Amino acid sequence: MYYPDELVEEVRMKNDIVDVISGYVRLQKKGANHFGLCPFHNEKSPSFSVSGGKQMYYCFGCGAGGNVFTFIMNYENYTFAEAVKMLADRAGVNLPEVEYSEEMRKKDGYRSRLLEVNKEAAKYFYYQLRSRQGEIGYRYLAGRSLSKETMQKFGLGFANVSSNDLVQYLRSKGYTDELMQEAGLAGFDEKYGMHDKFWNRVMFPIQDINHRVIGFGGRVMGDAKPKYLNSPETMVFDKSRNLYGLNFARTSRQSHVILCEGYMDVIAMHQAGFTQAVASLGTSFTSGQANLLKRYVKDVLLAYDSDGAGVKAALRAIGILKETGLSGRVINMEPYKDPDEFIKNLGTEAFKERLEQAENSFFFEIRMMEREYDLKDPESKTAFHREIARKLCGFSEEVERENYVQAVAERYHISVDNLRKLVVSYAAQTGLVSPVTRPKSGLAAKKNTPEENRKKSQRLLITWITEEPGIYPKIAKYITPEDFTEELYRKVADRLFEGLSKGEYNPAAIISMFMDEEEQREAAALFNTKLTELETKQEREKALHDIVYTVKKNSYEYYSGRIGAEISAVNQVIAGKKALEELSKTHISLDE
Ligand code: UTP
Ligand code: MN
Repeated sequence: MYYPDELVEEVRMKNDIVDVISGYVRLQKKGANHFGLCPFHNEKSPSFSVSGGKQMYYCFGCGAGGNVFTFIMNYENYTFAEAVKMLADRAGVNLPEVEYSEEMRKKDGYRSRLLEVNKEAAKYFYYQLRSRQGEIGYRYLAGRSLSKETMQKFGLGFANVSSNDLVQYLRSKGYTDELMQEAGLAGFDEKYGMHDKFWNRVMFPIQDINHRVIGFGGRVMGDAKPKYLNSPETMVFDKSRNLYGLNFARTSRQSHVILCEGYMDVIAMHQAGFTQAVASLGTSFTSGQANLLKRYVKDVLLAYDSDGAGVKAALRAIGILKETGLSGRVINMEPYKDPDEFIKNLGTEAFKERLEQAENSFFFEIRMMEREYDLKDPESKTAFHREIARKLCGFSEEVERENYVQAVAERYHISVDNLRKLVVSYAAQTGLVSPVTRPKSGLAAKKNTPEENRKKSQRLLITWITEEPGIYPKIAKYITPEDFTEELYRKVADRLFEGLSKGEYNPAAIISMFMDEEEQREAAALFNTKLTELETKQEREKALHDIVYTVKKNSYEYYSGRIGAEISAVNQVIAGKKALEELSKTHISLDE
């Protein structure tokens, strides 16, 4: 973060979160909070809450949350610095010009150094593509029908034939060899010394949802292998939790995304106006990516290659989508191989039609299965029907299963009754296939693991203190930040308690401590656990006592298990034992 903390805090305090968010979302006051439709996922009834008291927002539907900076970053796709700038302008606060001095760079975390060196490399590649040496790359991309604007939008670039010009350039900008290697931009060996990882390739910078460059894919211009070279995973480049194109797709305001196989597909789709297209990053689709998508949409349309490998990948993706609670449909691209080719040949309108006709993933799965059977052979045909029945058992909800039974029966000319019988007999043999329902919002905690329970009680306590800072002095002698066994929770508690002990109360400022968006979400969730509404003071006192006792007890057990591994554990255990004894005979009073 390049502005002094106090200044950031001033900007935050001068921008009331209810005012700011009201500019984007229609809010209605309900009790202490304001509610509206969440701008970060699709919903029909409002679960997005904004608290003027805490100066935070939180969505009970999708878990989006944070302070006013987080909101602007997410809504506008801004970096932190950009969000600060925008809100400073809004409130009339003057900001100093930021300079990325050597000094500041050192002060910044490793994460932001990685982001910075990636950004600098992206700029370098970008410039190369548009200069003499890059002509060959430019021609290649133009030859694949990309317009100048598209190349710009995706920040496409070019890595020269020269073997270490990026290294030279980055050195001249003050980056260390070590950082370049860690970012996966350069390698070192005894024969060649420091050398660029990418050369003679067109470059696709990979951006996170805030448009920050986190890695690269580079494509050869001919048929050499490997066709694409990708940056390795780094602290900022988690291939299983980012998607190519999502930085644009998330604001496309469609209720679905189109999941493609490759970078070029995404780019071609966006150029044709389908800005809801994304792709995974040189690896197969993961459940982390499905979760990321779930923040924004309910439906995923698959636009995988129509060859064997593509079908296999699509079937795999369908399984992951189902587990995540997303519905998947498959776009038929025949007779073409991929969306890039399809659009080039048949155009936008034809593709739109294919989107509308996208096939329900269950039927797609059955249709693919069908290929493996010879339906003219009674034995094989029966086996096929059995497989259908087996798959139908996957629907745990009766209504849904029955609907599919009927639809499949009709489609494959099987008698409904027979198919139903087959399903029943199959289910009787094996039991229904375990349902793939997952808790929708995380609110209704089901069978929690002990660890999840431990975290939950810690969250409850933090939320309670945040809503009623007056209880802090009453529990301060039993609870310390160390009782929060989750690292992020501990950091939050540390800051919150430090403030409260000085009579300061500023939960929203705590969010700014975290750079990473996931961490900000998690911190916001911590302040926004649903507390059970309790009527009487007695009930409330008892509940508070329970929570404090549980947190302390969990912490005691946690540290007991760490004696020997951690020096300070012994002290925690001794203090914990004492506090527990005391708590068990003390009543916490909520009187003033
Ligand atoms: P494709 O071979 O289908 O690439 O691989 P594509 O996007 O259609 O490429 P063009 O159209 O020939 O340029 C799909 C994706 O798999 C990854 C890349 O992410 C690519 O976009 N891939 C493929 C690699 O990472 N390395 C490879 O060698 C090949
Ligand atoms: Mn392809």
